[in-house]
Amino acid sequence: MKRFQQADALKRLPEQFFAKLVGKVSAVAAQGHDVINLGQGNPDQPTPPHIVAALQEAAVNPQYHKYSPFRGYDFLKEAVAVYYKNEFGVEVDPKKEVAVLFGGKAGLVEVAQCFLNKGDTALVPDPGYPDYWSGVAMAEAEMSMMALKEENDFLVDYNEIDKETADRAKLMFLNYPNNPTAGVATPQFFKETVDFAKKHDILVVHDFAYGAIGFDGEKPVSYLQTHGAKEQGIEIYTLSKTYNMAGWRVGFAIGNESVIESINLLQDHFYVSLFPAVQEAAAKALLGAQDCVRELADMYEKRRNVFISGLQELGWDVKAPRGSFFCWLPVPEGHTSESFADYLLNEAHVVVAPGIGFGKEGEGYVRVGLLTDEERLKEAADRIRALNIF
Ligand SMILES: Cc1ncc(COP(=O)(O)O)c(C=O)c1O
Repeated sequence: MKRFQQADALKRLPEQFFAKLVGKVSAVAAQGHDVINLGQGNPDQPTPPHIVAALQEAAVNPQYHKYSPFRGYDFLKEAVAVYYKNEFGVEVDPKKEVAVLFGGKAGLVEVAQCFLNKGDTALVPDPGYPDYWSGVAMAEAEMSMMALKEENDFLVDYNEIDKETADRAKLMFLNYPNNPTAGVATPQFFKETVDFAKKHDILVVHDFAYGAIGFDGEKPVSYLQTHGAKEQGIEIYTLSKTYNMAGWRVGFAIGNESVIESINLLQDHFYVSLFPAVQEAAAKALLGAQDCVRELADMYEKRRNVFISGLQELGWDVKAPRGSFFCWLPVPEGHTSESFADYLLNEAHVVVAPGIGFGKEGEGYVRVGLLTDEERLKEAADRIRALNIF
């Protein structure tokens, strides 16, 4: 029985929980209901025009119709170094400490492939972005979950990780501002992270996908701002959220030289880097004026204010997120995250993502993405109010 039989690595891939949600939403929409979809994480705004214009201009350059250098153009990696210096005060060597990625997602899976063997252990946040599970599963490694608890502001409590597990772990994923909990890291937390990782010899992979989205005047902290961070790991940055470029697939791994070299080595066998015109536009995004980014964060903050105050007024005890574009809301008593998401979909035609889809510790919460305009968010809150359940 060998006809096109899938490799075991593919069979190990985790089930896509949210595919099921898409099916349920389509069924309700097919009945003709006006569905407000707050269940996904796809930015709703277009890429700023100056970045699109840069791509248009670059696309006609015949030089860019050829293969890129294998590891991306130097000008792009230099732009990343300038950006990190300007935004976070972090110095990186563009030649050795920056890898160009096809979006953050690719890097997160690649880094697991680069460093995990069968039976190895990776520390993974729970709840967390499900793509961390994929590379670990493909490598036939084990996940040891790190609970993100509300009483710790959704930061990992390293005292909760037993010594034996910590000593065994090779790699750790972190993500702040956090998807799905909207938790934000402090400099002190990253200091504890570096100390813990150093003590147990663990590679830190900090996913900084929401690095540009902080509220109330707070700018998210980069892991690389911590003393000793580069010796202990990398940060994965993406243009998807910062510049609404999710469809462009541009990301970077930044930090430890030997880790960057490993990612580049793996990629040498898969790709010949991004379309060079996309690389040029990405460099212009990073080097240009950053007003568009501040405006975007302000927009999400206004949406947050409208939505969260709407929910608080109707009696739902929810906290305002301080970063990312997600709200992490406790479900009312008597419901699971899935039963409550189904209830909101069927009775209010409002889609939210059940917390259980992000891991066991996500039970008891639903995630809302602030990815529609204020009016629709207000409408969603009004529809929930009309259910009279709080
Ligand atoms: C936490 C987190 N990490 C990474 C990504 C992937 O982003 P990219 O578009 O760069 O692959 C996302 C996208 O939703 C995300 O939420």
